[in-house]
Amino acid sequence: MLIHSASQLLTLPGGPQRGTDLGRLAIIEDGALLVRDEKIAAVGTTRELRRAHADEPTLDASGCVVMPGFVDPHTHIVWAGERAAEFEMKMAGAKYLDILAAGGGINSTVRKTREASIETLMDETRPRLARMFAHGTTTVEAKTGYGLNTETEFKMLQAILALDAAGPLELAPTFLGAHAIPPEYKGNPQAYTDLLCAEMLPFIRQWWSSQPSTANRPLPFVDVFCETGAFDLAQSRQILTKAKELGFPLKLHADEFDNLGGALLGVELEAGSVDHLVKTSDGDIQALASSDTVAVSLPCTPFGLAESEYTPAQKIIAAGGLLALASDCNPGTAWCESMQFVIALACRSLKLTPAQAIAAATINAAHAIRRADRIGSLEPGKQADLLILSVPDYRHLGYRFGTNLVKQVIKRGRVYSVETGTHPVEHLAEAERLAEAE
Ligand code: NIG
Ligand code: FE
Repeated sequence: MLIHSASQLLTLPGGPQRGTDLGRLAIIEDGALLVRDEKIAAVGTTRELRRAHADEPTLDASGCVVMPGFVDPHTHIVWAGERAAEFEMKMAGAKYLDILAAGGGINSTVRKTREASIETLMDETRPRLARMFAHGTTTVEAKTGYGLNTETEFKMLQAILALDAAGPLELAPTFLGAHAIPPEYKGNPQAYTDLLCAEMLPFIRQWWSSQPSTANRPLPFVDVFCETGAFDLAQSRQILTKAKELGFPLKLHADEFDNLGGALLGVELEAGSVDHLVKTSDGDIQALASSDTVAVSLPCTPFGLAESEYTPAQKIIAAGGLLALASDCNPGTAWCESMQFVIALACRSLKLTPAQAIAAATINAAHAIRRADRIGSLEPGKQADLLILSVPDYRHLGYRFGTNLVKQVIKRGRVYSVETGTHPVEHLAEAERLAEAE
C-alpha cells in the first residue's frame, strides 16, 4: 500500500533524540510511504514513490500530516473500579499521600482489582485501550501494581499479556509489585519488600521462561514507586538489585512528591527510564544526562492533582538528557487516554515546542521501553505503525487540545478509521462542496 500526498510526513530518523537534538522531525513535504508486510518499505516524496511503485494500491493523505504512532511509555491502564469520590476530596484540599496513608488511593483500587476476575479486569480495560488507540497510541507500556500479592499481580500480568495478544494496540508489560505497601503489611514495608525479593520476582521470572508464549520474549520491566509512604531508597535498591540479578530490565517512579534519591539509583542500576521527575535536583539531572536512562515526564499527573510544579524539562534538555512523555494513565492521579492531550500540556507546562513534544512522544518514548529499534519513527524496516492526522501542519498537535485530530491509525500495516463523525474540518469541506454544487 502506498500512502501518498501527505502535506507533511514526519519521519524522525536516526534513533532517540538527546538534549537540544530533541525535535528533529525530518519532514518530507508532499510525502509518501510504502507499506509491505506490516513494515515500512520506503519513504520519500509522492513523486519519487509513485514513479517507483506505480501499481501499488493507494491511500490518499492529501491535506494531512502522516507521523509515527504515539508510544505511551508509562501507564497503569489495567485496573478495576474508579475513584471519582477521591477526586472530589482532592479538589477540596485532601492530599494524595494522606489519602494513601489512610488506606485509600492505590489501596482502594487494589481492593477492587483483587475482587475482579481476570475477565472483568480485561472487560474494564478494553474500552480504555480502544480509546487510546483511537487517539493515536499504537504501543502502550502497562504496569501491574494493583494486586500487591503474588496471585493478583500475576493475574494482572496475564491480563496485560492477553490484551497484547488480542491487539491491535500493543502492550509492553511492567511488573510493579512494589507500587504500594499492601494492607496486610501496613507498618511493615520491609517484610513486603522481602516477600517481593524472595517470592514474587523469582516466581515471575520462572513462570516467564517456562511458557512457550513468553519464553522467547524479553522479560518485562520491573518498576518501584520510590516515594514517601511507599518504598524508601534502601527498599527500592533492594528490589531493583534483585530484579537486575534475575535479568529484568528496570524502571523507577522517582521524585513525584519527594526526592528520595530515586533518579540517581535508576542511573546507577542502568534503568531504561526514571519517571515523574518533579522534585529532581540539578545533580540528578546531570547524572541522568550522562546516562542512557530516559527521563519520562508525566505532566498529566500534576495537572490531574491540580498541582503547579512540573518536570524541569528545559534543564534536562539543556544538560543533554533523553526526555520522553507519557500519560501515566491511572484511576488516581491522571485518567488520561490521549497522548495528544499530553503533548498539548507539555507544550504549556514544560515549555516544549510541538516538534520536541512529538519526538518525546514517539522515538524517545519508544526508547524508554527499549523498542526504538522497531517503532517510534518512519524509517524503512520499521513496523508500519503510523497516524494520519486530519490537519495539514504538525503544530496543530500542541496548539489544539480536547478534540481528536487522528483520522486513521495504521497498525502493523492495517488501516483503522477513527469515527470522529462530525470532525469540523471534514464538515466544513463537505458544506463548501454542497454550497458549490448548488
Ligand atoms: O504514577 N505514583 C504512583 N502511581 C500512580 C498513581 C496510581 C494511583 O493513584 O492509582 C502515578 O501517579
Ligand atoms: Fe505511575
